[in-house]
This record gives sequence, structure tokens and C-alpha cells, in this order.
Amino acid sequence: MSLKENIQDLLKEVSQLKAENEKELEELRIKYLSKKGVITELMKDFRNVPNEEKREIGMCINQLKTEAQNKINSIRESLQQNGAQSDTRLDLTRTAYPIALGSRHPLTLVKNEIIDIFSRLGFCLADGPEVEDDLHVFTKMNFAADHPARDMQDTFFIETNPNEVAKNIILRSHTSSVQARVMETTQPPIRIICPGRVYRNETITARAHCFFHQIEGLYVDENVSFKDLKQVLLLFAQEMFGKDTKIRLRPSYFPFTEPSAEMDISCDICGGVGCSFCKNTGWVEILGCGMVHPNVLELCGIDSKKYKGYAFGLGIERITNLKYKISDLRLFSENDKRFLEEFTSVN
Ligand code: PHE
Repeated sequence: MSLKENIQDLLKEVSQLKAENEKELEELRIKYLSKKGVITELMKDFRNVPNEEKREIGMCINQLKTEAQNKINSIRESLQQNGAQSDTRLDLTRTAYPIALGSRHPLTLVKNEIIDIFSRLGFCLADGPEVEDDLHVFTKMNFAADHPARDMQDTFFIETNPNEVAKNIILRSHTSSVQARVMETTQPPIRIICPGRVYRNETITARAHCFFHQIEGLYVDENVSFKDLKQVLLLFAQEMFGKDTKIRLRPSYFPFTEPSAEMDISCDICGGVGCSFCKNTGWVEILGCGMVHPNVLELCGIDSKKYKGYAFGLGIERITNLKYKISDLRLFSENDKRFLEEFTSVN
């Protein structure tokens, strides 16, 4: 048999190679491609090939070598794939894996606690959309048409309507919009709390974020007074932060309440002595509140001569910061498992 015929037979042989496992594959590799293998032997015979045939025979030997390598590589790949598949096959006799339970997000824990306190005081849950119209976020909340809160710097706009500002579609910047939604469909007595996410166009830092969470409270009935508001808020603060917690109300301004106030509680971190969290004042602000402005009642279809109301809005992040002594707001939305896992035992 000539060398050329020999090579052709080998080419055919190589194309039909098979191996059941790594060991057989290694035997094939040694047989064809090792230093003592068939192809190296051919190279020895190649020396005796007459010059005029060297080019053609040389090419044939190279082709054989490449095909042998390719074949062996492809057998190796398919063996590895089958191996990987058999690893993932289900073993139904195995005991179940222990499934790691997730934990509630700290903001959810605090939200639930706040809801629980106000539910015991007779407040019902209410809800409203996060993508809202200006009508409910601002107009019915007694914001003047040129109020700076409508400005692009605070509010995220989805759709603007140059002819009628109240029709702008925005991301709600406070949960007070739910007050409007409830009052326009319900007559007093109304006693609701509305937890939810709100959005403001702020640079993200440790102390500010472009979205955060609020809980709005609203009580409308006959003969509601500021002292009812104060008593409910005192009770809330003491339930949330302990019986010794003190509150103080400072006069403030919101378009939708009159009079308006901001409420501080004695700093839970330093016990009122002064620390960096309370900026050494011993007090931290936790909410805004006030008596519902008669304009708001009227704009929502409620008789302001007959009914009075109070409202408050608190930031869940702020309360959570105090409760769990967390000083960076960004931790709440970064999904860092190390942070979230710290709350596994709290429930
Ligand atoms: N909506 C106000 C805010 O986002 C909070 C507030 C709610 C104040 C209800 C008074 C009454 O800052």
C-alpha cells in the first residue's frame, strides 16, 4: 500500500473515531497524536517520499493531523456536556435542601409597626396611585398655580399639559394626594392612613434620595381639634419609641393645613443629650402635620363649615433610621444582602 493510500485509510478511520469515556479518549489521543503515534510514524516515512510528491503528501499528512485533533476535541466536548447534564439530573431520593428564608425589609417592618399602631386607634388603610395627576398632588391640596413645589426641580414629570397644569401627569411627591382621592369619594367621618412611595428630584446622598416612603394620616369629622391631633401623635411616638419619648410641635407651613406644624421627638439615639444625628439639639423632626385647610375640604367636596380635620405625613425612612440607628438612606435601596440579613431575626 502506498503512503498516500495509507493516509487516506487513516483519514476515514479518524472520521469514525468513538470514545465512551475519558480513558478511551486518551487512548485514541495517544494512538494518533502522541510522539509515538501513527501520525509521527508517517512523518518518518515522509523522508523517503520522492521530492516531486513531497508537496502533495505533506498536505495530506497535515490534513490528517488537523482532522484527528478536531475529532478528538469534539469527542471531549460532547463527553463533558453529557457529564454536566448527568450532574443536573434530579435525584429524587435526596433530602430537601434547607431553603434559606428571606427577611422583611426594614422599611416594611417599620411600616407594619406604624400601621399596627394607627389601626388600634381606628384608622383604616387607603391607597392611591404613584403616577398621579397634578390635580390630586397639588391643585386639590391648595397649592397655588405658581407654587415652587410644582417646579421641575422637585417633581418628576411624566407628561406636561401646557394648557392646564392640573392635568400634568407626575410621580407623586407626597402621599397627601391620597387625601384628595379619599375625600372626593367619601363623606366624613374619615379616618385613614396611607402608606406609599413618593418621588422627588433630589441628588442621592446619605440624607436624601429621589424616592422614599411616607405614611399619610387623615381624620375628618365634626368637632375635630388640634388637641386631638397632638394626643394621637404623642401616643404614636410613645408606642413607637418608648413611653419616655417626648414630642414638641414647631409652627410650620404647608399649603394644605392651617395651622401647620412640624413634630420633633426627643432623640432616640442619644436620649436627648445631643449627638450628630440630632445635630446636638436632642430633638429630631419626624413628621409634618396640621388642621386640614378649609379650601382643601371644599375642593374635595366636603362642607368645611360642618367638618374639620387634621392630617399628618411622616417619613418611614426617618423613623427607620432612628429605630435601627441607620445613618445612610442609600442602604435601603442598594439590595446589599449583608445589610438586609441583619433583619432576619426581627419580624
Ligand atoms: N405632605 C407633607 C410632606 O410631604 C407632609 C404633611 C402631610 C404635612 C399632612 C401636613 C399634613 O412634607
